[in-house]
Amino acid sequence: MASGTSRDVVGRGLRVLGRAIREQPRIFAVAVTGSVLFGLMVIASAYVVGGVVGKVVVPAVARGSVTDGALALAAAALFGISVLRVVGIFGRRLGAGYMQYRLQATYRRRVTRRYLDLPLAWHHRNATGTLLSNANSDVEAAWYPIAPLPFAVGTLVMLVGAVVSLFLTDWALALVGLAVFPALFALNVVYSRRMAPRQARAQRLRAEVSGIAHESFDGALVVKTMGREAQETARFAARAGDLRDALISVGRLRGVFDPMLETLPSLGTLAVLVVGAIRLRQGAITVTELVSVAFLFTVLAFPVRAIGWVLAELPRSVAGWDRLRRVLDATGEMPYGEVAFDPATPAPATLAFHDVHFGYEPAEAHLPGTEVLGEVTFTVPAGKTVALVGPTGAGKSTIASLAVRLVDPRTGTVTLDGVDVRELTAASLASTVALVAQVPFVFDDTVRANIALDRPGIDDEEVWAALRLAEADGFVAALPEGLDTMVGERGTSLSGGQRQRLTLARALAGRPRLLVLDDATSAVDPRVEAAILAGLRAPADGGAPASILVVAYRRATIALADEVIYVEQGRVVARGTHTDLLATVPGYADLVTAYEQAEQEREQTRTYDEVTPLTSGLEVEVDR
Ligand SMILES: Nc1ncnc2c1ncn2[C@@H]1O[C@H](COP(=O)(O)OP(=O)(O)OP(=O)(O)O)[C@@H](O)[C@H]1O
Ligand SMILES: [Mg+2]
Repeated sequence: MASGTSRDVVGRGLRVLGRAIREQPRIFAVAVTGSVLFGLMVIASAYVVGGVVGKVVVPAVARGSVTDGALALAAAALFGISVLRVVGIFGRRLGAGYMQYRLQATYRRRVTRRYLDLPLAWHHRNATGTLLSNANSDVEAAWYPIAPLPFAVGTLVMLVGAVVSLFLTDWALALVGLAVFPALFALNVVYSRRMAPRQARAQRLRAEVSGIAHESFDGALVVKTMGREAQETARFAARAGDLRDALISVGRLRGVFDPMLETLPSLGTLAVLVVGAIRLRQGAITVTELVSVAFLFTVLAFPVRAIGWVLAELPRSVAGWDRLRRVLDATGEMPYGEVAFDPATPAPATLAFHDVHFGYEPAEAHLPGTEVLGEVTFTVPAGKTVALVGPTGAGKSTIASLAVRLVDPRTGTVTLDGVDVRELTAASLASTVALVAQVPFVFDDTVRANIALDRPGIDDEEVWAALRLAEADGFVAALPEGLDTMVGERGTSLSGGQRQRLTLARALAGRPRLLVLDDATSAVDPRVEAAILAGLRAPADGGAPASILVVAYRRATIALADEVIYVEQGRVVARGTHTDLLATVPGYADLVTAYEQAEQEREQTRTYDEVTPLTSGLEVEVDR
């Protein structure tokens, strides 16, 4: 590290600390007051010890007896000082702890809050691992130096106090102090500068080691089935070895500097004794003063280390802070509008795309962004079901994201009941549309919590109704604790089809007026899929049917739709009924047939997720 940049780091680090102090000024004041009290009491204790030796011990040795009064006075003074020291330590520790953990909590909240506000486009560009470390280790790293900061500030005050008291005692002893204290300070600075890059490397390797472990555990299935155990172990061992080397190099540096930091004050004490003895003989100082100063040197050594601790943590703090700033200063959130639908309207909604163009932002700003959708125009009329069909990568999921406003079009409009979705309030949007995503996400919580998501008005009755519509009531009823069953991290205790139906029930529980299903039932038996869709189009409880936009492949599913929109490479190529498209669009016929063949092969080799007893007797008419 060049000295210019390390000075820069210290300067920027101090600015980060300044921000911390501005955020928690009162607690910081308490901690520093405690620390200064402690420092002053350290100096005072040196003078009291000197006084005891000079005024009690020496005369007692000379006379052969101790005066009770002097002894009692000395004991009382030492006791008083000790009590104040304890109070000081208590105030400092408590204040520093409060400050550090409060800042951590505050910034964790700010960062996660920001994640929720930032648009999906931003999340597409940022890896989950980074988001996690932003909220965890970066927040911690940024506020690490807070813990020793009050101690360091108090120590600085103490050093000034010590030098002043030395000058008041004797100029020759003061000169010894002026030589030793700055040397101690300089040694600390050198130590921290040498330590910083080693600590940073160790920190980075720690993250890498746990990253590799995490990936191996996550991909345990691939690792095991592909016989990659040996390679994975080797990959982990290599990084673990690097971490070991980095930590040993940290230890080695400690081994060199720690003894020096211990010895320097002792050398100072020795110098004090030599110089002091001369000054004593010259009659310039008393025994009391000499003992006080010698004692002062020994007790100062430890607190001076606190300054080094702060300096050593600054580079890590700056790095953590910079990463936090990237999140906190990120822009691009999608502001919501002011238009609200009447929440009492149970009628299905009309969705319309008008000449929509869209492209994902490139991963790096200088790369050109390609257009993923162009001239997309279609309507899902109220209460109707529209199927979105197209080859992989055609833009079906992108259309689904636009329909529920996860992203906004570059040009063109998406409207719900004629209102541009950008003009709707967040609440109206959330209660009107629901997306069941291509990849189901299940929280590590109970079945009930996964479906209700704490939304008001969703009681157990609603939850069961939604489960029935999603054809999931059968398996949920069979779970050991029903709605209270925990489903495990990402729903690991459920089958793929069960997970899909749970997320479908979650969308249905809000009684949306428009339902967007992105390949949401691919893992369930085709007959169950058709039954679900039929149930949504004509709810058994007599409720209003929702408008449905469904991304589908299966002929049975597509055949239920009122209209099919066929997309290829981000364009609407054809639209019409399933039968029309089969007859007129060659690409469409090929795709549906190819999918059907694959599906048949699949059915021969595996059985689908278990069929719920309810649907086994249900006849669904499909055009096969
Ligand atoms: N987050 C993203 N960032 C950049 N490009 C993306 C992103 N998501 C999708 N794309 C690109 O946009 C295009 C359309 O993707 P989309 O997911 O909408 O396809 P799809 O029709 O849903 O495909 P599939 O049938 O495989 O689900 C693809 O070329 C894809 O590579
Ligand atoms: Mg998709």
